Amino acid sequence: MNTNRTRVAIHNRNMRTDAEEFARPAQPPDTTSWSALREAAKDCEACHLYKGATQTVFGEGPKGATMMLVGEQPGDYEDVAGKPFVGPAGKIMDQALEEAGIDRTKVYVTNAVKHFKWEPRGKRRIHQKPNSREIAACRPWLEAELRIVKPKLVVAMGATAAQTIFGPAFRVTRERGKVLSSKLAPRVLATVHPSSLLRQPDEASREREYKRFVSDLRAALYAAGEE
Ligand code: URA
Repeated sequence: MNTNRTRVAIHNRNMRTDAEEFARPAQPPDTTSWSALREAAKDCEACHLYKGATQTVFGEGPKGATMMLVGEQPGDYEDVAGKPFVGPAGKIMDQALEEAGIDRTKVYVTNAVKHFKWEPRGKRRIHQKPNSREIAACRPWLEAELRIVKPKLVVAMGATAAQTIFGPAFRVTRERGKVLSSKLAPRVLATVHPSSLLRQPDEASREREYKRFVSDLRAALYAAGEE
């Protein structure tokens, strides 16, 4: 297993030899098999992000899930584990799901972008926001997941997920908590990204924002017809 030091060294080497950050839309196979889709995504080279990542982090959850949660991209922990939302943001999301009465094992959890984008800072890997070309390159994978899972409701967590679904003009602050419709999915509720709760300046605002997040998830549960 690679250590972070090795990952940083590989990243630096790749980035030195490839200044060009290419991106073109991924071409998932036309299949109704989730496993076949996941297998194909392992080899995705639609954009340059695969070079710095350990592996593709595909979505996870039951095929017939009524709810799909969409985040931004895997973080450091997810990149190593190969599973979405298993790091600090995942922990707070799990706690909020439980408080909202949502069983994570019954929900499909995925990301708008399936490779970890980061830059080295010393031995650490610092998250970088994916740009619009990288998001567009990865979008066909999300579309394919939506076609197979067919959730009754999609929860877009944070601006990247929401803008992947609604376009770049979408503002989570304006539309948060409403059930909206898009070409990608008939019912979508946008809320904040769980990592934003970890960045709150003090305990009081963290508590307040956490409660708002739980209440958005309760609204999502209701909208998915589970309550
Ligand atoms: N943040 C995300 O958006 N997705 C993950 O899987 C982990 C952190």
